[in-house]
This record gives sequence, structure tokens and C-alpha cells, in this order.
Amino acid sequence: MTVHIASRLATLPQPATIAMAARARELRAEGADVISLALGQPDFPSPPEAIEAAYHSAQAGDTGYPPIPGQKALIEAIIRKFRRDNAIEATSDRIMVANGGKQVIFNAFMATLEIGDEVIVPAPYWVSYPLIARMLGGVPVEISCAEEDRFRPRAEVIKAAITPKTRWIVLNFPNNPTGAILEKEDLEAIAGVLREAPHVLVMCDEIYEHLTFDGRRHLSLLSVAPDLADRILIVNGVAKAYAMTGWRVGFACGPKTLISAMVAVQGNVTSGVCTLAQAGSVAALDGDFSRIEVMRQTYETRRNRVVAVLRAIAGVTCEMPEGAFYAYPGIASLIGGVSGGGRVLTDDVAFAEALLDEAHVATVPGSAFGYSPYLRLSCAASDAQLDEACERISRFVEKIRPA
Ligand SMILES: Cc1ncc(COP(=O)(O)O)c(C=O)c1O
Repeated sequence: MTVHIASRLATLPQPATIAMAARARELRAEGADVISLALGQPDFPSPPEAIEAAYHSAQAGDTGYPPIPGQKALIEAIIRKFRRDNAIEATSDRIMVANGGKQVIFNAFMATLEIGDEVIVPAPYWVSYPLIARMLGGVPVEISCAEEDRFRPRAEVIKAAITPKTRWIVLNFPNNPTGAILEKEDLEAIAGVLREAPHVLVMCDEIYEHLTFDGRRHLSLLSVAPDLADRILIVNGVAKAYAMTGWRVGFACGPKTLISAMVAVQGNVTSGVCTLAQAGSVAALDGDFSRIEVMRQTYETRRNRVVAVLRAIAGVTCEMPEGAFYAYPGIASLIGGVSGGGRVLTDDVAFAEALLDEAHVATVPGSAFGYSPYLRLSCAASDAQLDEACERISRFVEKIRPA
């Protein structure tokens, strides 16, 4: 018997980030020395206080089903976090804990999207927003954030994309993959557009908020436009800033009715989040902030190093990322050439595949993020790996010849 796969999955490709990582694993299994810069996975250990707290909570017998919205201690730590980091006063009925930021997004779209509802997604975007929206019957509407605008969306472009069917706009800043940050004026202009469109909800994915460079600070739309509180959903989590990707703890702050609908979704899908991971997350959020600062500085130093080398490669452009831990070099003038291995580099997918197969560097093509021709390189790798990867990219590019 052929298993029937639901039609809602028909448009669901495998995220390119995962596909590139899988191809890199295959090559490694064949003995190749592959450097993978494909995944957004911090290369630091989780905070020791989080590990201790998880261990103690297991020993103390905190191993039963947790409340679906999240454990009281974690919800209180999240309220403290919003007060401390974002100057936002939240109450417990505006907070929920989920299995990663990803499940927050799923819960929110599942709770609100009718078939055909539009979700405005500024490109370049993190791969999951359009995929989750589409899986749930939504229609992603992509708008472009040009490199000349430092990859920030223009308020007038957002305004032009809003229709009566718009349910959400997604704002992910600091951005994955570009590292772009929104400044106060950007947020004020966007808030102005949103005030004229009271049917639109705003998803602010702030998971990279602590990873900002050159003295810049992340500003939350909610702190700039508190009058929009009944329409803003903040997505955050411990994965990136605290190097806790595997703990699977994300959280949301949003309007009460939305949060309770999202809790209802989660209650029927995964129930509450692992108790031990929640205990660890309390310790992380309340823990030693200097650990984050060390990681932030390391990412900034790596960014400087990687961008300097990339900019020195003829045919490669690279905007300076303002946050997160990726570089997003442009390769427009190399498209159409022929690689040293004889492949025609028709687009950034062909480029990334040839780079992986011929130079053994795994990256993710910009098309995965809705914005080509670019590559995303994760700087969550050691200096030695980054230097070697850049060297290989440089040699790969040198061998490219016109078709
Ligand atoms: C912008 C953005 N939001 C959310 C997530 C998901 O985070 P989590 O691991 O908490 O599900 C990621 C992970 O790559 C991300 O890059």
C-alpha cells in the first residue's frame, strides 16, 4: 500500500539548511574533510548553571507532566527577562513556554491562520516562517529588503504589501541570515504603518537579541510602540544566546487571547515542555550575563575576520552583519561562470553545491532565504575552521572561469 501523504505537505520542501548539512555528512562519511558552516548552532557549551539546575530538578523529582503554558518558575524568570532586557512589563497570562522558538511560531500560525490568509515575510528570511505558514494553509507574501538598505524592510514596502487578507507580518531582527538590526526610526516607521492596519498581527522574532555588534543594541518593537501590545507576539528562546539549542526551550510574550489559543494548540500536540529543560532555562535566564558577553564578543571578532577575507575575494560582496552569527556574502558576479570542477554555476544553489563538492565547505544558498544570489555562512565555528573555510572559498572562486 502507498501511504497517503496529506496535501498540506505537498508544498513543504526540506529546509535547505538541513539538506546541505545532510550532504556534508554524506561527504564526511566518504572520508572528505568537510567544514560545515551550514547550521545555526552555537559552538559553545550550555551554561554550567543550567546543567546543574536541570540535574537538581531531576534529583528533586520534578519529573511529572508540567503545566502546558510553562512552569511557574520559568514564567517568572521570563517576566524578569523582559523587564531587564527589553523594558517590557509582562504578566504571566501573556507568556507561554514552547519546545523552541520554532514551536512558538507553529502555535501562533496554527492558532490564527485561516486557509488563504497572508503572512508578510521580509526576505531574506529564516526558512521556517514561510514553510510553517504554508503547511497551515497560509500564503507567504515575500517583500524584499535590499542590500543597499542594509537588509532592512522599508515601511512603504510593508504598507504596499498589506491587503485585507494579511494576518501577520514577521519581523526577525537581528536577522537570520543577514544580521540586520532595526533602529528606532525603522521601528517607528513600521509602527506607523501598523497603526493604519489594525487587522495585522506582528511576529517579532528576537531570538538573536543579545548578539549585536559595534555597540548596537537590539530594540523591541513592543517597547517602541506599546500601544500595539494587543497585536505583537514576541518570539524568543534560550537556543542562540545561551547556546542551548538542544534543550528545546522557546517562549512567547503576546496578547492574552492569542497566548491562550497557542496554549490550547500546544496542549493537543506536545503538552508542556520538558521539566528539566525548563529548570535549566530558569538558571540560564537568571544566570551570569558575562557568559553571553564572551560569546557575543567572540562572534563579533569572527565576523570581522570572515567579512574582511570575503570582501578581499574578487567577485564577492559582503555587507557587515550588525548582529546574529552569520555572514551573507553576495556572489552575483560569479553566477554564470564555470567552476574548477567544470560545473556551470547557474544560481546560488549550484554554487553552494559545487563549493561543497569541490572545496568541501558547506554553506546555505541564499535562495533558501528567499534572496539570491547569496550564501549564508555560519560563524559558529572555530577561528581555524573559519580561516580554512575562507581560504577554500577564495581558492574555489579563483578557479571560476567565464562560461
Ligand atoms: C530566526 C530564528 N528564529 C527561531 C529559531 C528557532 O529556534 P529554536 O531552536 O528555539 O526552535 C531559529 C533557529 O535557527 C532562528 O534562526
